[in-house]
Amino acid sequence: MRAAMESGSRLFWYFLILQILIPTTAIAVDTITPTQPLTQNQTLVSAGGVFQLGFFSPGGNSGGLYVGIWYKEIQDRTIVWVANRDKPLRNNSTGFLKIGEDGNIHLVDQTENSIWSSSNSNQSVPENTVAQLLDSGNLVLRRENDENPENYLWQGFDYPTDTLLPGMKLGWDSKTGRNRYISSWKTPTDPSEGDITFKLDINGLPEAFLRKKDNIITRSGGWNGIGFSGVTEMQTKEVIDFSLVMTKHEVYYTFEIRNKTLLSRLVANYTEILERYTWVPENRIWNRFWYAPKDQCDNYGECGTYGICDTDKSPVCGCLVGFEPRKQQAWSLRDGSGGCFRHDQLDCETDGFLTMNNMKLPESSTSFVDVTMSLDECKEMCVRNCSCTAYSNYNISNGGSGCVIWTAELLDMRQYTAEGGQLLYIRVPASDAGAFFSSFLFGTVKTIQKT
Ligand SMILES: *[C@@H]1O[C@H](CO)[C@@H](O)[C@H](O)[C@H]1NC(C)=O
Ligand SMILES: *[C@@H]1O[C@H](CO)[C@@H](O)[C@H](O)[C@H]1NC(C)=O
Ligand SMILES: *[C@@H]1O[C@H](CO)[C@@H](O)[C@H](O)[C@H]1NC(C)=O
Ligand SMILES: *[C@@H]1O[C@H](CO)[C@@H](O)[C@H](O)[C@H]1NC(C)=O
Ligand SMILES: *[C@@H]1O[C@H](CO)[C@@H](O)[C@H](O)[C@H]1NC(C)=O
Ligand SMILES: *[C@@H]1O[C@H](CO)[C@@H](O)[C@H](O)[C@H]1NC(C)=O
Ligand SMILES: *[C@@H]1O[C@H](CO)[C@@H](O)[C@H](O)[C@H]1NC(C)=O
Ligand SMILES: *[C@@H]1O[C@H](CO)[C@@H](O)[C@H](O)[C@H]1NC(C)=O
Repeated sequence: MRAAMESGSRLFWYFLILQILIPTTAIAVDTITPTQPLTQNQTLVSAGGVFQLGFFSPGGNSGGLYVGIWYKEIQDRTIVWVANRDKPLRNNSTGFLKIGEDGNIHLVDQTENSIWSSSNSNQSVPENTVAQLLDSGNLVLRRENDENPENYLWQGFDYPTDTLLPGMKLGWDSKTGRNRYISSWKTPTDPSEGDITFKLDINGLPEAFLRKKDNIITRSGGWNGIGFSGVTEMQTKEVIDFSLVMTKHEVYYTFEIRNKTLLSRLVANYTEILERYTWVPENRIWNRFWYAPKDQCDNYGECGTYGICDTDKSPVCGCLVGFEPRKQQAWSLRDGSGGCFRHDQLDCETDGFLTMNNMKLPESSTSFVDVTMSLDECKEMCVRNCSCTAYSNYNISNGGSGCVIWTAELLDMRQYTAEGGQLLYIRVPASDAGAFFSSFLFGTVKTIQKT
């Protein structure tokens, strides 16, 4: 009895030492089966060797243990996905990733407690499921012998962490009722969900918001058929194809890299910045390809309602023709957030429109959208509705189509100097509509004199 206990504890120490001494070994498989779990000292490698999945401890020895996915060939480990971000395994515990009796992927500790699991809830499924790491970075759960290997019962791509990879979807799935979004790590060593989120909003024009908790940091501008109206870089699609996909069940933003061998990722960084990195193989570095907010005008509501932000102007905030700063003193002190008020009143009978080019469209969450109407019909609808403040095309590709009508105060507009943005027609009294021609010459934005 005593001998058995001793040998038992020797075995324990033996394993513990093995655990410490033996480095992680990559087994050349991409799949976990019911008979082949993944131990803490093993990793999965996707078929083409692009991604690797395994255990990691971002906080070093003192922190928790997580299951994550990273690029196999990039030495400075770049974690793109974490399974159990909010449920770490304690450092002194040994983890396994296995297929449980319910057919789900389970992360268990050495006492077989399930710490985390994939959430396929289809009760009729459990038999013979396998988990596979794909070259896209997606960890998928599927039936082992499914004729359609893309018939996923669950996929990691539906549960992004802080990174959007090519092919991942940011947005709504009405079947699951989930709005997939990315959210920052809490700190560089703590992958649990932080305060910074990047989410698609499908009220009005589809557009995405970067928030810190509930506060909007910056917004993308509405999707205009080519890109988000506030992300000028999207108009050029040399390297990356961006798309907004609308089907019966889904509305989502996604991107693909033209050259599949190139790596790119969109990250909601805990630094409160949304960043796109691309890998430069020659120098073996991640290059920050794009980020937001990039300038003062990217700050949400920088110039308040009816204010227009233009980084080429000083101060950057201006009021539309017919409007005056609401808080003159703050405005003079370069705080435009109070916005502008209508100086010349609308009469709803004779009003006209100010044509503004290269505009990041105002926030549209309460606006009316019709994808089939023409611009003329759109204008007519605006003219007929006294609460209409502005209108615009819904989709600017192929000469433009569809209609967006704003009936609320116009918020968070900016104007680009050259390319970027789109035409916006703002309702003004007839006298100011006439200002179109002079404003065309002198700039549509009336900036306020410094005192
Ligand atoms: C990996 O760890 C398990 C126990 O956690 C052990 O049984 C196995 O021998 C180890 N394999 C290697 C290759 O170190
Ligand atoms: C965590 O585990 C490592 C070895 O795996 C050990 O050296 C370290 O002391 C542990 N830390 C804590 C806080 O338990
Ligand atoms: C790990 O550490 C925690 C707290 O320090 C302790 O409660 C737990 O029993 C330990 N588990 C093992 C397997 O040693
Ligand atoms: C559950 O799986 C069955 C068999 O594949 C399928 O027909 C059914 O649609 C699934 N149900 C849900 C809610 O996904
Ligand atoms: C915008 O218009 C183009 C060309 O007509 C069309 O291919 C595209 O699907 C439209 N996009 C949206 C979001 O409606
Ligand atoms: C794709 O990128 C790789 C690596 O940078 C390069 O060698 C290759 O020529 C590119 N292919 C195309 C079609 O541009
Ligand atoms: C977040 O930003 C910091 C500072 O620029 C950078 O070092 C880090 O790599 C970024 N995080 C990710 C996940 O890219
Ligand atoms: C004007 O537009 C608002 C918002 O779309 C709508 O609630 C209201 O019914 C419209 N009024 C008329 C007269 O069409």
